[in-house]
Amino acid sequence: MGIKIFMISFIITSIPLIFLYISFSTEPASISITNFKPILSSNNVLLKPTRDSYPVNFAYLISASKGDTKKLKRALLALYHPANHYLIHMDREAPEEEQREVAEFVASEPVFSLVNNVYIVGKPNLVTYRGPTMLATTLHAMSMLLRCCKWDWFINLSASDYPLVTQDGMVNLIHAFSELPRDLNFIQHSSHLGWKLNKRAKPMIIDPALYSLNKSEIWWVIKQRTLPSAFKLYTGSAWTILSRSFAEYSIVGWDNLPRTLLLYYTNFVSSPEGYFQTVVCNSEDYKNTTVNHDLHYIAWDNPPKQHPRSLGPKDFRRMVLSSRPFARKFKQNNPVLDKIDRDLLKRHRRRYTYGGWCSEKGKKPEACSGFQSENYGVLRPGPGSRRLKNMLTKLLSGRNFTKRQCR
Ligand SMILES: *[C@@H]1O[C@H](CO)[C@@H](O)[C@H](O)[C@H]1NC(C)=O
Ligand SMILES: *[C@@H]1O[C@H](CO)[C@@H](O)[C@H](O)[C@H]1NC(C)=O
Ligand SMILES: *[C@@H]1O[C@H](CO)[C@@H](O)[C@H](O)[C@H]1NC(C)=O
Ligand SMILES: *[C@@H]1O[C@H](CO)[C@@H](O)[C@H](O)[C@H]1NC(C)=O
Repeated sequence: MGIKIFMISFIITSIPLIFLYISFSTEPASISITNFKPILSSNNVLLKPTRDSYPVNFAYLISASKGDTKKLKRALLALYHPANHYLIHMDREAPEEEQREVAEFVASEPVFSLVNNVYIVGKPNLVTYRGPTMLATTLHAMSMLLRCCKWDWFINLSASDYPLVTQDGMVNLIHAFSELPRDLNFIQHSSHLGWKLNKRAKPMIIDPALYSLNKSEIWWVIKQRTLPSAFKLYTGSAWTILSRSFAEYSIVGWDNLPRTLLLYYTNFVSSPEGYFQTVVCNSEDYKNTTVNHDLHYIAWDNPPKQHPRSLGPKDFRRMVLSSRPFARKFKQNNPVLDKIDRDLLKRHRRRYTYGGWCSEKGKKPEACSGFQSENYGVLRPGPGSRRLKNMLTKLLSGRNFTKRQCR
């Protein structure tokens, strides 16, 4: 079935694209969004920047569930850059008011409407904690983004994540590594399953969200299974940055490995912590593309490392020193987010993270609030870029890189 690009009725009335809505089916996806009439902005200029003005670009999936709308809006503004693509997934459990709030927000942000690179999953999934429906949502997003847009890396985040580096900084960094192959996959992984051997690899679960309209918890099958012998199991971080090539391989699965493993992982607890790890490391073609790092700052509870601690002002220094481009998780409006905005992103209240694309000549203090088309393509990386570069240099240095792949 071909991709259908739905523009809500107001677009048919020849008003410029305010808000793009993509889905794979022609049925009205969710009443809240199809019935929703966004407020039109007065700006009638349709800008079509060529994304080629930047050396690389990213496709972000930002997942949110019930109660996350405020966090989601803030994270989206902090991550926004006109060269990237942003797909928002709201758990189907989120009430209609919240779905509408997000849709209205996307439609009313002047730059989003002008550039047209923020999308909402029109037919969202019901996502169960620790169930395979989370993975299904990620794969769904990857396939939509592959069909619609041109990008180099796919980045999976939630509304509780926040960037520590500007998007110009991320682009600049890749640029600085001009030799950095585009097919690298940042997937933290290990074959030492430890306690997960008995708690993850052997038990089997069923996720009712695969067939039920109502949210409920996963349930456990009484019998256990043996460890796989047809492939080797890997585990790691659920936060990954995937190359376009590997994303395509995972979705199309031309040698069947991604598909077989997906079926296997349907009954696996917390499949997002192992699926891409196991796929990439069991694939001859892709196992040399892994960088064993998730590029996230996460403060875990002590073993079993299942519940990240919420970050606050006390963590700021460690976050910066970690040189990582993303951190999690944050509670809504934690004061440390204001400090990150001020010191690392140069982001003003309710505005975008600073970047060359929005710089206005001679205007101080520079607040990133509008699109300056003459500056499209200009990079102003900001403070975190150099730190991130040092970290990547270490990660990619010959021995560190290959010695840590798929062991
Ligand atoms: C993607 O991001 C979400 C955060 O919303 C996370 O829970 C999930 O496990 C991630 N990974 C995959 C492979 O889905
Ligand atoms: C599912 O939810 C609907 C509406 O909330 C309710 O009427 C129905 O009884 C629920 N079904 C089950 C099996 O719990
Ligand atoms: C991956 O690396 C190994 C060891 O360096 C090498 O033998 C193998 O040919 C490489 N595979 C591919 C597909 O490049
Ligand atoms: C390899 O990584 C370690 C730890 O991340 C770092 O201390 C070391 O300098 C790196 N090696 C090289 C050659 O960069």
